Amino acid sequence: MKNHTIDALNWRYATKVYDPAKKLSTDQENLILESLRLSASSFGLQPWKFIVVRDVAKREELKKAAWNQNQVTDASLFVVLATPKNIDATLVSTFIDSVAEIQSVDRTKLAGYEGMINGSITAKGEAGAREWAARQAYIAMGTALLAAAENAIDATPMEGFDPAQFDAILGLGTIGFESRAALAFGFRSDTDTHAHDAKVRFSKEKVFLEI
Ligand SMILES: Cc1cc2nc3c(=O)[nH]c(=O)nc-3n(C[C@H](O)[C@H](O)[C@H](O)COP(=O)(O)O)c2cc1C
Repeated sequence: MKNHTIDALNWRYATKVYDPAKKLSTDQENLILESLRLSASSFGLQPWKFIVVRDVAKREELKKAAWNQNQVTDASLFVVLATPKNIDATLVSTFIDSVAEIQSVDRTKLAGYEGMINGSITAKGEAGAREWAARQAYIAMGTALLAAAENAIDATPMEGFDPAQFDAILGLGTIGFESRAALAFGFRSDTDTHAHDAKVRFSKEKVFLEI
């Protein structure tokens, strides 16, 4: 199949070695960050914070908590995807406030919607709501991976790290968040042999079930 998006998905790979000298331009960086911000989420609740780690010393610390994966320090942009430990009515209320403001809707008319969201989250239980939040963060991850590929920016989705150590290094506990995954962005090094690996994907027959 010849298509721009399919070509980009074939071109991309989880980059293992970045060229530290090659940096994203401001426009490229903004494009990636905007793709994260515009990601879909259940109810549109956006239960996430994207921690853009610019501090070089912090990146060194994070690398140690990520099995010394070089991408943490060598990529041009490194973003940790974090979600709230507690999805409470305050988060929902903040979201409903922004719906009212952005869509110029009377706040009181959204009370039913707000109650429905709160009811759905409460029904998941505390642990269920936490996991649900993590799933939302992964949607943002997929969105950014595609945005990067379509714009010839290399990326690595990463969960090979110790979340508790990441949380401590980034001080996420103090804002009630926890790290779930991370994304590195930049440009592949000529030395990264993985760039030439054939893509390992199951056949259509294996992954699609037509009913
Ligand atoms: C959620 C998630 C976490 C991953 N964690 C890491 C990681 O910590 N380090 C790494 O080098 N690759 C990581 N990968 C990359 C996968 O190994 C890679 O996507 C998979 O082998 C498919 O290959 P491709 O993406 O290069 O096509 C991760 C991928 C996903 C989706």
